[in-house]
Amino acid sequence: MEPLKQENRVFNPPADFVKGAAIPGMDAYKKLCAEAEKDYDGFWGHLAKENIYWKKPFTKVLDESKAPFYKWFEDGTTNASYNCLDRQVEAGLGDKTAIIFEADDGTVTKVSYKEMLERVCKMANALRKMGIKSGDTVIIYMAMTIEGIVAMQACARIGAIHSVVFGGFSAQALRDRIIDVGAVAVITADGQYRGGKSLPLKAICDEALSTGECGKVKHVIVSKRTGTAIEMKAGRDVWMQDIVANEAATCEPEWVSAEHPLFILYTSGSTGKPKGVQHSTGGYLLWAILTMKWTFDIKPTDVFWCTADIGWVTGHSYITYGPLAVGATEIVFEGVPTYPNAGRFWDMIQKHKATIFYTAPTAIRSLIKASSNDQAVHPKSYDLSSLRLLGSVGEPINPEAWMWYYENVGGSRCPIADTFWQTETGGHMISPLPGATPMIPGSCTLPLPGIQAAIVDEAGHDVPNGNGGILVVKRPWPSMIRTIWNDPDRFVKSYFPEELGGNLYLAGDGAIRNKETGYFTITGRIDDVLNVSGHRMGTMEIESCLVANPLVAEAAVVGRPDDLTGEAICVFVVLKGGRPTGEDAKKVATELRNWVGKEIGPIAKPKDVRFGDNLPKTRSGKIMRRLLRVIAKGEEVTQDTSTLENPAILEQLKESL
Ligand code: PRX
Repeated sequence: MEPLKQENRVFNPPADFVKGAAIPGMDAYKKLCAEAEKDYDGFWGHLAKENIYWKKPFTKVLDESKAPFYKWFEDGTTNASYNCLDRQVEAGLGDKTAIIFEADDGTVTKVSYKEMLERVCKMANALRKMGIKSGDTVIIYMAMTIEGIVAMQACARIGAIHSVVFGGFSAQALRDRIIDVGAVAVITADGQYRGGKSLPLKAICDEALSTGECGKVKHVIVSKRTGTAIEMKAGRDVWMQDIVANEAATCEPEWVSAEHPLFILYTSGSTGKPKGVQHSTGGYLLWAILTMKWTFDIKPTDVFWCTADIGWVTGHSYITYGPLAVGATEIVFEGVPTYPNAGRFWDMIQKHKATIFYTAPTAIRSLIKASSNDQAVHPKSYDLSSLRLLGSVGEPINPEAWMWYYENVGGSRCPIADTFWQTETGGHMISPLPGATPMIPGSCTLPLPGIQAAIVDEAGHDVPNGNGGILVVKRPWPSMIRTIWNDPDRFVKSYFPEELGGNLYLAGDGAIRNKETGYFTITGRIDDVLNVSGHRMGTMEIESCLVANPLVAEAAVVGRPDDLTGEAICVFVVLKGGRPTGEDAKKVATELRNWVGKEIGPIAKPKDVRFGDNLPKTRSGKIMRRLLRVIAKGEEVTQDTSTLENPAILEQLKESL
């Protein structure tokens, strides 16, 4: 496919979409933005009252007295699970399907709002009976199952703070998170199904818990999924199905302050240790609800499908909380897009008559490739006429992939919401609104109403449209990160750095605004964070992992563009025993790849491993990563290398295996 050069095409929202939209047209969008501008507290306060059930109403909207530790609706009390489930049942939606669950093997299970509420209540009662209480932290290490969502909602119901760890993470990564979050319990499953395979979960938990550092964990709750033989430690391990069996189907929610932490989710930063991003209850929930309405234009008849995993923030906001809090019917999928073949997504949209489909550019790119010479798995071979809206998330969507998605999946009739946001933002920040914003492929267009996104230079001053710069948010918003768990200093330094004046939220991305339209285009991370298939990976995290291998003396990790995964991980390694060549080098490279896979998780496996006698360094010993980035791309080094201590090393590092 030929890349499109300059993207000038504009796609207007279809007229009939605009007619029924929550935000119908640009004037309606601008009106909301102006309302926020005029009376910030009034704008958010009004929306919070209208969209959330408050047990005790709040009296103050935003407290900036301890900035940047902003507080929203703090003296109001509410409960996320109540808002997602009880509220729907009370509104007469008890029999409405909340979840259409499709298992890896294609088995479909439907759960109504009433049933979901009962299951969550039983689990919440069981957790309470074990002594788990409001403010305790609970690790959830589960795959995409109804039980995973039940576990999260049950924690929310009793005020326990959940921290979901993606089911593909290793024992070591899981252990680090268990320790950092101070978990008193772990909820997991015996195993998980993915792409026709049964993979372990409980065995990995056991390994994670095998050291004394996880001593606070008193309970391990195991959901039976695969029937895999596992060990159950007496006094610690119980089956989820057993503990809920005799519990009551009602459970009084814990009414918590809007600022009570709903969850902690770990994400990669520019230094070694992942950061525990702490989210609130009230502000987070408000934004999950509003973005379901504004960005996804959710209607009572919609069948919403977000293909993310509950291990990532997208799965939190747009699977566990957002869709249920607006009473929608949603599809939850256990498997992978390529099993039993690459037509799985299209088959499921056809079968369940999905109306809104939200996925990642990486998935789209891999399905473009898979269907390019196999008509049977091409979206055109399926009836996708139920779709009315598409979404994209996690990484920049290149215009070619955007066009393919628009034409082949959306039949040139569905708007695409290219949603820019982050684990830290809790929900969408910059995105076209499907009934309002004219779309330009590759641009996430304009900030949502109330979101004061801007582009500044390194001193924090606004840059004119047309000039690239640093993406910031100028005012606090309800669903923003509240702090880094156990590390408030790092929170301030990472997100509100002094260099920018201390009051701008630093997203960590570069961006540029179009001169004429003011539209935002994200140009990529400005820190040492990579984005591989929409997954955030810290280069330092992978480097520390590599140097922990007994063979490795030194390592540097950089990203390079990749057609399929967006970015690919490229590592430059110096071995203690000298530079390997030929078959030897291939063998060590495989060993190191597997090492990273085991220590962090398969998603962190480097694509390209290169060996040198040394790394390119300045005379003061600093590794020159910008040169490594050029080499990783396979480009000629044209930069000045005069400050380099050892220029000859570059030739060695150019050799790929
Ligand atoms: O670099 C941006 C990229 O993903 C990062 C956030 O990653 P994470 O916290 O894992 O959350 C992913 C799901 C929200 C951002 O800093 N990113 C996310 N969405 C987009 C994007 N880059 C460009 N366009 C997007 N739509």
